[in-house]
Amino acid sequence: MQKTRDFHYRSVHDRDAFWREQAGRVHWETPFESVLDFSRPPFAKWFVGGQTNLCYNAVDRWLPTQADKPALIWVSTEVERERVYTRQEVYEEVNAAAAVLRDLGVGRGDRVLLYMPMVPEAVFTMLACARIGAVHSVVFGGFASVNLAQRIDDAAPKVIVCTDAGSRAGKVVPYKPLLDRALALCKTPPASVVVFDRGLAPFEPVAGRDLDYATLRAAQRGARVPVTWLESSEPSYILYTSGTTGKPKGVQRDTGGYAVALASSMEYLFNGKAGDTFFCTSDIGWVVGHSYIVYGPLIGGQATVLYEGTPVRPDGAILWKLVEQFGVNTLFSAPTAVRVLKRQDPALLKKHDLSTLRAVYLAGEPLDEPTAQWISEGLGKPIIDNYWQTESGWPILSAQPGVEHVPTRFGSPSFPVYGFDARIVSESSGEDLGPDQKGVVAIVPPLPPGAMSTIWGDDERFVQTYFTSIPGRQVYSTFDWGLVDADGYWFILGRTDDVINVAGHRLGTREIEESVNSHSGIAECAVVGVADALKGQVAMAFAVLKNPAAAETPEGAKQLEADIMRLVEDQLGAVARPARIRFVGALPKTRSGKVLRRAIVAVCEGRDPGDLTTIEDPTALEQIKESLQ
Ligand code: PRX
Repeated sequence: MQKTRDFHYRSVHDRDAFWREQAGRVHWETPFESVLDFSRPPFAKWFVGGQTNLCYNAVDRWLPTQADKPALIWVSTEVERERVYTRQEVYEEVNAAAAVLRDLGVGRGDRVLLYMPMVPEAVFTMLACARIGAVHSVVFGGFASVNLAQRIDDAAPKVIVCTDAGSRAGKVVPYKPLLDRALALCKTPPASVVVFDRGLAPFEPVAGRDLDYATLRAAQRGARVPVTWLESSEPSYILYTSGTTGKPKGVQRDTGGYAVALASSMEYLFNGKAGDTFFCTSDIGWVVGHSYIVYGPLIGGQATVLYEGTPVRPDGAILWKLVEQFGVNTLFSAPTAVRVLKRQDPALLKKHDLSTLRAVYLAGEPLDEPTAQWISEGLGKPIIDNYWQTESGWPILSAQPGVEHVPTRFGSPSFPVYGFDARIVSESSGEDLGPDQKGVVAIVPPLPPGAMSTIWGDDERFVQTYFTSIPGRQVYSTFDWGLVDADGYWFILGRTDDVINVAGHRLGTREIEESVNSHSGIAECAVVGVADALKGQVAMAFAVLKNPAAAETPEGAKQLEADIMRLVEDQLGAVARPARIRFVGALPKTRSGKVLRRAIVAVCEGRDPGDLTTIEDPTALEQIKESLQ
């Protein structure tokens, strides 16, 4: 692994020369004056003074060589449709969408919020925003009204683009009615809502506010919208993510650094080249979708597959069928998807010709060894576990086959990616730890190109949240535990905070608690993440009732549980709904009033709750145990 080490060393110690070379992968309308401005740590500005544009790099730049080649391959097993857009067709659609937004008064720096499922129009709208210098904020379709309202209020978009509905596992999922409910909760709703009507679900258009995407687009067919060149550090997008407070953080991404980071990753991490086909099964509402459904592959001159559907419909071979049909070279998915496939006939893995496929990348949650082994043996392809975050924008830890082929180890996402000066540090002293010592995964700033530049509208919170938790030094905390073994392989050992990960979806327990607490019968509650064989983790809620008699009978408790689940689903979306809600007389707390979450999780997982000397009322933990029986 010497080559990987040297490459990484140079990226951190000869930073300017390294990133200057990488910057040559993208088009600069105006060259940058300096590679990095780190005069105000921990804020990093990459490629200062350079002007570029994400849409230009993803679309226009490839027209001379790839106008007639596939760029966006849309497959929906939900509505049984397929459509392949060439780069030229993407260019046409993006220009029309950009003209629509421009005519609605959207300009440089204005926000546009997208609440859309996996349809090409979502990708066109994202790229259209980039084209005119607008900042998009895509909200995952699985989120509901309260989540959506918080994000609308924080980003204050000028325009919202949504669809009437999506579809999941054959069931129509309404989008527009949820958006209407969210807008009713908002302090400053936008003047215009553009609805891409798929004809899946009826909705009530609001006169004077709601506009029809198809009509607006038809009027702009053939429009040409000039690219707005942005200074490298100008924001490209905001993507909200959960932390330990009830208020989601708007992760802000720059323009130039992101383009360079993604372009480099297409070669070094994915070992790919222009003309390849990339298939990422994530959702455009998550960071993986932003980086590796939309921007990464397109900036790298690759075709990208946009798939609306599940891995098991019409059957468990669908992903492999698509790999064969479109000659996919790189597949990017999540461990949960593989665990779902593991419940299917393993012969399905062999049903299709996978000769074009080089490797399968998995990220977003811990990849357990048995799952990694199963898929690796079943497919006969390398499996590459990569570890990153919404904040980092691209992988922090990964094998880098485009740099060097180093054997991977099941259970390890391999090594730090170039640009990330990652360390394992002591939570108590802040010092770097040695081999096999468990500590916090931290990154010494400056964060590399592509990583978050700040929290939208709140520089102070950015510094406070990420750079003050490790004592004695200003380093970025990932809030993940980790260790490096004696051979240099990294391992991720779970979160240090109260963030949980359900089927690869990052959720804040605090947000779920606030939602449960909004039920009129609840006095207080604790939500924790508990190990689950399929989803990695599930949320479990323990609630104290204002009137304990309400849950005295099993029927009463069941009814109440169902009511609260419906409430959470309504406010936050089905992804956040706890798997179980149990009613207890008191929550286990320290004498200073802090809920002993780790002890609750241990009890739920049948482990020893550890040191309980600070517990105020030991019977509270007993009650948790009993409530599970
Ligand atoms: O806890 C880590 C886990 O997911 C968190 C980040 O989630 P999100 O912001 O949604 O970004 C996902 C980008 C892939 C991390 O802090 N996580 C992500 N990848 C892995 C992982 N845990 C273990 N192994 C991974 N490969």
